[in-house]
Amino acid sequence: MLNKNLENALNKQINAEFWSAYLYLSMSTHFASEGLNGAANWFKIQFKEEQDHALKIIDYVISREGRVELAPIDKVSTKWESLLAAFLDTLEHEKVVTARIHEIVGIAREEKDFATENMLQWFVNEQVEEEETAQKIIDALKLIGNNGIGIYLIDKELGKRT
Ligand code: FEO
Repeated sequence: MLNKNLENALNKQINAEFWSAYLYLSMSTHFASEGLNGAANWFKIQFKEEQDHALKIIDYVISREGRVELAPIDKVSTKWESLLAAFLDTLEHEKVVTARIHEIVGIAREEKDFATENMLQWFVNEQVEEEETAQKIIDALKLIGNNGIGIYLIDKELGKRT
């Protein structure tokens, strides 16, 4: 049985993962409208991954006989002035998610809930990967600046994500 404190924290995280999904879907639709179809593809895959993250926690809460409470999803931005702006937002957001995950790991430790701590380890590792990926794309976009050919090529690269 899941401790109430942890159940609440995991429910908040489920909502945060869905909010992340919504944010990346918004980025995807924005760049599709701007004709950057590679970026639209990249963010659409990110949208799907975030839903998987939420489902992973949902399944876990249920497996521990906890109660899943789906809360409303807050509004997200709908426009970005450039690809760089969107990836800077992505990195900033992922850092917030990392801090939240670490906080829940802390609660699991306090409660001596080793199963939850173990489940969260997957998310700890995933966040390292997500921050690193966003940072690498930011570095490339900073090098490119406003160079049209560079943007065209990076968009093609982003379109290869499956
Ligand atoms: Fe589910 Fe991007 O963290």
